[in-house]
Amino acid sequence: MISSERQEHAISTKLVSPSAVSVDPSKTNDYDSFAEAYTAANETNLVNAYYERPAMLALAGDVAGRRILDAGCGSGALFAALRDRGAIVSGFDTSAGMVELARRRLGDGADLQVADLGSLLPYADDTFDDVAASLVLHYLEDWGPALAELRRVLRPGGRLIVSVDHPFAVNLIHREAGREAECNYFDTTNWTVEWTVGGQTALVSRWHRPLHAMIEAFIGAGFRITVISEPDPDPAARELFPEAIAAMPRFLCFLFFVLQAG
Ligand SMILES: C[S@@+](CC[C@H](N)C(=O)[O-])C[C@H]1O[C@@H](n2cnc3c(N)ncnc32)[C@H](O)[C@@H]1O
Repeated sequence: MISSERQEHAISTKLVSPSAVSVDPSKTNDYDSFAEAYTAANETNLVNAYYERPAMLALAGDVAGRRILDAGCGSGALFAALRDRGAIVSGFDTSAGMVELARRRLGDGADLQVADLGSLLPYADDTFDDVAASLVLHYLEDWGPALAELRRVLRPGGRLIVSVDHPFAVNLIHREAGREAECNYFDTTNWTVEWTVGGQTALVSRWHRPLHAMIEAFIGAGFRITVISEPDPDPAARELFPEAIAAMPRFLCFLFFVLQAG
């Protein structure tokens, strides 16, 4: 586990509440309000730029000519990297502010939409060879409708490549804060943190989910698990973040899956 306070260029994180019940939901996950600051951090920090994104790209492999949907595309960094590798990419995000930044990055011709993972998606059946769902599923309490939609828009045999909060890391964050009673590993639990990023603060609420519940959701939606990955950071991180990597050359932060649509 690596805590984001220990990194350079970090989003600093403070555990606020075990549950959105005690936080006004309209005040959480307002990516529009910190889209620029989040994007600047995401492009340079250890956990996104030198850990999560390289891991997603490595799992995707050779994507030349593949039609890929970037679900929860944010400001489009993964979209851009996949497109640079020859994929034909579409993306959507629930935050209009993030989609606007993605459009600025990717150009007017990019296939980008504001849409909500968990609702019906604006794509026909069997459209994509791959879906990348990078750090988005953990915003949803119920993965069933979202996974059913992603399964629908994937062609049979297509891949769903996922990164989510590592459930053990979330549990450890609560333990380190002396608040283990608020996050029983075995429960699907909402937890809220305050992010400070680029001088702004924002409340971010996500759903902790134990490993067995993730696997049940994937299987229940008709996916076969082909890879579960707990990768190393990108080798470049050693020079860019020497203190963080020396202190913790390997760490748990996110958990990665490659799933095949049945
Ligand atoms: C941590 S950011 C990750 C962005 C991008 N995937 C990346 O890895 O750089 C999470 C993104 O998920 C989006 N998001 C959260 N809930 C969503 C939902 N239900 N449908 C679509 N996007 C959602 C947020 O707006 C935000 O852009």
